[in-house]
Amino acid sequence: MIRFTGVSHSYGDRAVLADIDLELSEPRIGVIGANGSGKSTLARTINGLVVPEHGCVGVNGLDTARQGREVRRQVGFIFADPDTQIVMPTVAEDVAFSLRRHRLPRADVAARVAAALARFGLAEHAEHPAHLLSSGQKQLLALAAVLVTEPQILVCDEPTTLLDLRNAERVHRLIAGLDQQVVLVTHQLALVADWDRVLVVDGGRIVADGPGRLTVPAYIELMSQGIDT
Ligand SMILES: Nc1ncnc2c1ncn2[C@@H]1O[C@H](COP(=O)(O)OP(=O)(O)OP(=O)(O)O)[C@@H](O)[C@H]1O
Ligand SMILES: [Mg+2]
Repeated sequence: MIRFTGVSHSYGDRAVLADIDLELSEPRIGVIGANGSGKSTLARTINGLVVPEHGCVGVNGLDTARQGREVRRQVGFIFADPDTQIVMPTVAEDVAFSLRRHRLPRADVAARVAAALARFGLAEHAEHPAHLLSSGQKQLLALAAVLVTEPQILVCDEPTTLLDLRNAERVHRLIAGLDQQVVLVTHQLALVADWDRVLVVDGGRIVADGPGRLTVPAYIELMSQGIDT
């Protein structure tokens, strides 16, 4: 359960989130909205990467401001650019790095890394330099490196924006099939059109909240306003 209570945030004098109250318990939550509307900022508050100026964000009863480290153990985060998440030279080392604080026996780490790589189709690349993977493979590596720690919630901020159609489909299928609660920020409206809950963010506020079949058309209508043809 993710709970926003009276959340507002500014960067300097630029207000970015305003008066957000939300309880997110559905397994799939889409977040859509215009460029600069505050989606990434909202997503980052869920794992404490951004701590709101006012109000609080709670994750399974933990406060992201005071218990950021515990929150980040429960909330995995995937960025648009997988290069920002790759930290180790080889594919297997990168996934193993995520487990460094788990203090597992070496054999257990190896087994979990192997299982994660197999799940994301990267087994044969285990010893390859991570930076030489294709963009799609890098995003799969980022997913493997986050999910190997078995977080309860996965927040994805435009995880397929840089991928070609085939890789985007693959990553989406994987995300759609996860056991975790998923919060997906995307501009690819078709991906969330049939989700049970999709939030529309505009000017830092939630301006529509409901099933994608209602909120996606509401967003398209909102975006069509003010366009001169
Ligand atoms: N670290 C920062 N410092 C200052 N301003 C920021 C920072 N991060 C974001 N902003 C500003 O906050 C506003 C919201 O940004 P945010 O990244 O949350 O939007 P977004 O909805 O994710 O947009 P996009 O669809 O382009 O990714 C923008 O005006 C942006 O310029
Ligand atoms: Mg963004």
